[in-house]
Amino acid sequence: MKLSLACVVLAAASLVSAAEFAFTEPKLNATYHPGDTVKIQWHDYDGTKPTASLWLGTGQRALHWHPYKIIANLTEPFPTSYTWSIPKNFKKQRYYLVITNQTPYQPKSDYFFVA
Ligand SMILES: *[C@@H]1O[C@H](CO)[C@@H](O)[C@H](O)[C@H]1NC(C)=O
Ligand SMILES: *[C@@H]1O[C@H](CO)[C@@H](O)[C@H](O)[C@H]1NC(C)=O
Repeated sequence: MKLSLACVVLAAASLVSAAEFAFTEPKLNATYHPGDTVKIQWHDYDGTKPTASLWLGTGQRALHWHPYKIIANLTEPFPTSYTWSIPKNFKKQRYYLVITNQTPYQPKSDYFFVA
């Protein structure tokens, strides 16, 4: 298969931003409790300033992930962390975080637990 470099670059550029994030916190299998404060952190390799939402997902961390709740809408200046206070009555289960701006690239954190 022959793909021109220009096509690849254009395709990548048109999808922008969210591909350039990588979560660093929470760590895999971190366990928090309702009422805890969690510092969620990520790297922004791209440096652009998109608008995106920070979601909690449940179930399998797959392409067709299950959105549970938006915990923040992120805007300029785009942050690299967000401090989340877990509500006292929050459902105890396994979660992961997703930064999404509706493009196909939706970087996800590792699984963590509210227990
Ligand atoms: C994380 O938790 C899952 C399910 O409890 C377990 O299967 C897996 O081995 C754990 N991984 C690590 C690196 O702790
Ligand atoms: C984020 O934006 C959406 C759409 O405008 C809104 O429904 C939601 O309440 C907002 N969530 C937060 C946590 O600000």
